[in-house]
Amino acid sequence: MGYPAQRPRRLRTTPAMRRLVAETSVEPRHLVLPMFVREGASEPVPIVSMPGVVQHTSDSLRKAAVEAVAAGVSGLMLYGVPLAKDATGSGGVDPDGILNVALRELVAEVGDATVLMADLCLDEFTDHGHCGVLTPDGRVDNDATLEVYGRMAVAQAEAGAHLLGPSGMMDGQVGHVRSVLDAAGHTDTGIFAYAAKYASAFYGPFREAVASSLEGDRRTYQQDPANAVEAVREARLDVEEGADLVMVKPAMGYLDLVAAVRANVDVPVGAYNISGEYSMVEAAAANGWINREAAIVEVLTSVRRAGASVVLTYWATEAAHLIR
Ligand code: PBG
Repeated sequence: MGYPAQRPRRLRTTPAMRRLVAETSVEPRHLVLPMFVREGASEPVPIVSMPGVVQHTSDSLRKAAVEAVAAGVSGLMLYGVPLAKDATGSGGVDPDGILNVALRELVAEVGDATVLMADLCLDEFTDHGHCGVLTPDGRVDNDATLEVYGRMAVAQAEAGAHLLGPSGMMDGQVGHVRSVLDAAGHTDTGIFAYAAKYASAFYGPFREAVASSLEGDRRTYQQDPANAVEAVREARLDVEEGADLVMVKPAMGYLDLVAAVRANVDVPVGAYNISGEYSMVEAAAANGWINREAAIVEVLTSVRRAGASVVLTYWATEAAHLIR
């Protein structure tokens, strides 16, 4: 026998051979498009740090939703950008708040053709920018925040969201939201829990996208990027509390945790390819430093390979066309 005896390259010889042995694929149905809707906007407002992403008007939101559904995207994750904010984020609870109004409009436009998801968090609605309400001395008050999340959840369920995405990293948020939804008769409204969410510098562009008022950081509630063990703990707790799906966020620097969570829970796992991950690729591509389309498909494939069945990505509609 000649040397080398083992020739793995045989499986890479032709496109057909490579396709035959590919383990992972990205399909439109795996993708969820996060979208921003801005109260009072008369034109879509470009988000400078996320080229190609806008804060939608209610008209452009509906149009983009229809395009995403036509491309085969499986879900839309909606964020509201309100005109007014206050200390308790009351715009998130208000049935006439921008997020709840836009949810109802999307239900009317696309109905059950896709899965409508709502960000269940206060940071877009608070004047201090934190994900919860504050104690008199300025700390984020876990249990007082749960009470507000419960009311916000009922408003989102009543507006027609199929899945609620609690993203504030308060302890007990999934269990509390589940029990309040059930008590209100919303037993079919699901929870896509942001289970392992890290305090990441790569959320930077998102803060522009939602016109965040945050000063300081979220390190008393979001996880330390140094830690892996607590990702599994957080995901298990959320499943015990009733999460229907769990999410790891960010995605690219956290693929080890996508794999770990996948191995340790028995519900579908999602990963959020966040704003900074999007912007890095867009910026490098704009400079001619990387091949943009190839990079997009590679990123999404990597997240799937790590074990995510659902990938939230700002490229969802475009990627759905690219991979078809
Ligand atoms: C909080 C929330 C954030 C993101 C999604 N939900 C920001 C944060 O925690 O500061 C980030 C998403 C992204 O960066 O794309 N409601």
